[in-house]
Amino acid sequence: MKDKIKIFVPGTVANVACGFDVLGFCLDDIGDGMTIKKVEEPGLRITKIRGCELPFEIDKNVAGVSAKAMYEALNPDCGFEIEIHKGIKPGSGIGSSAASAAGSVFGMNELLGRPYTKLELTAFAMKGEALASQSEHADNLAPALFGGFTLVRSVHPLDILSIPTPDDLYATIIYPQIEIKTAEARALLPEKVDLKLAIAQWANLGSLVHGLHIGDFELIRRSLKDVVVEPYRKQLIPKYDIIKAIALESGALGCSISGSGPSMFALSKGKATAEKVKSGFETIYQDSDIDSQTLVSRINTKGIKIL
Ligand code: HSE
Repeated sequence: MKDKIKIFVPGTVANVACGFDVLGFCLDDIGDGMTIKKVEEPGLRITKIRGCELPFEIDKNVAGVSAKAMYEALNPDCGFEIEIHKGIKPGSGIGSSAASAAGSVFGMNELLGRPYTKLELTAFAMKGEALASQSEHADNLAPALFGGFTLVRSVHPLDILSIPTPDDLYATIIYPQIEIKTAEARALLPEKVDLKLAIAQWANLGSLVHGLHIGDFELIRRSLKDVVVEPYRKQLIPKYDIIKAIALESGALGCSISGSGPSMFALSKGKATAEKVKSGFETIYQDSDIDSQTLVSRINTKGIKIL
């Protein structure tokens, strides 16, 4: 059996407008690189972190916390060394903490001959995600591990559904380079939701999932709306309304906050439209002092990749 594995852990978009904390999808091309080594000396060590400054202490690093949850459950007669190459900046809204948390357990599981299912790995990784956001949610972890669109029907017990991805669906991302901490973005949200808004939200979520199943882009367009969370969080993102207007004018099916922001995503039918949205996004912060990155991505239906 191998004693070293290199993986690519993709970025993800959580919430997808109407699916706060339950729906997510997986991106291509943008993600973290991780190398996991099985070693004789027992215990867990983070030996290298590139791309940004993060703690090396196992209990303070999301990759370490999730790895520890799995390590303690299995109690293997070996140890692991973890190298993290961050391609996704923490606080960017495209699943940075989920990538680290999912990557460490995925890599260890492969080196041990896959004792755990992806569902079980998600449960371990949720411990790492909880360190970053003070809340156990799996809407970034599930698409990173399973690929495509995923719906987390329940967290306790964990129940994850894979939703089909229609051919020709593309995402465009704009990442204004400011940091929003998930815990702070969650603190803005109300404890209670008005029943009329809740009805609109779950109607849209049901119809979005149906639209994805049958590949009905017009239904997807009608469903990509968030009447519960967006009104509270949009104030965190400079030029939010302009970003959304440009996406829709360029032909996107919908546009909303990616996870807890500041990144925003648009979904489009066809690469040409997604590229048009990207061109529009590139103009948004031109006259401001905010730097931004934009990208077009296919929906990655495979999730974490072994390199
Ligand atoms: N569902 C989460 C949120 C995703 O929006 O707070 C970010 O981790």
